[in-house]
Amino acid sequence: MRHFMWSACAAFLMAGFVLLCTSPAQAQDASDLFKSKCSICHSADGSSSGPVGKSLNIPDLRSDVVQKNSDADLIGIVTNGKNKMPAQKDKLTEDQIKQLVSFVRTLANKK
Ligand code: HEC
Repeated sequence: MRHFMWSACAAFLMAGFVLLCTSPAQAQDASDLFKSKCSICHSADGSSSGPVGKSLNIPDLRSDVVQKNSDADLIGIVTNGKNKMPAQKDKLTEDQIKQLVSFVRTLANKK
């Protein structure tokens, strides 16, 4: 009986673990990442309209000026930085940067 309880418990834990690892949607991750790492300068909606965005004269990420860049260009800018835009290569993985660029693409439609 005792043995049964242990294996039931282990199976339960394992199921929980698998759920935990597979459930979060990627889009949600990217938007959380954007909020925590990028919104200080770019605002949560990418408009860069907050005090920092205004003082650094940051372009609206939703605008054509930014959106006309290729994914590779944007990934490059986020990875290596550009002027006052800090490089993220030591802070984020390549994968996270790609997700963020995809996220920036989704902002364009929400003008
Ligand atoms: C310290 C403020 C700051 C933070 C934090 C920041 N950025 Fe920027 N970002 C800038 C500035 C300033 C520019 C404008 C660079 C330029 O064109 O001179 C910029 C430009 C950009 C551009 C457009 C490039 C262009 O000019 O066409 C993208 C895309 C971008 N940032 C994405 C991100 C992402 C994703 C993050 C979070 C990982 C992030 N930024 C975090 C300041 C910041």
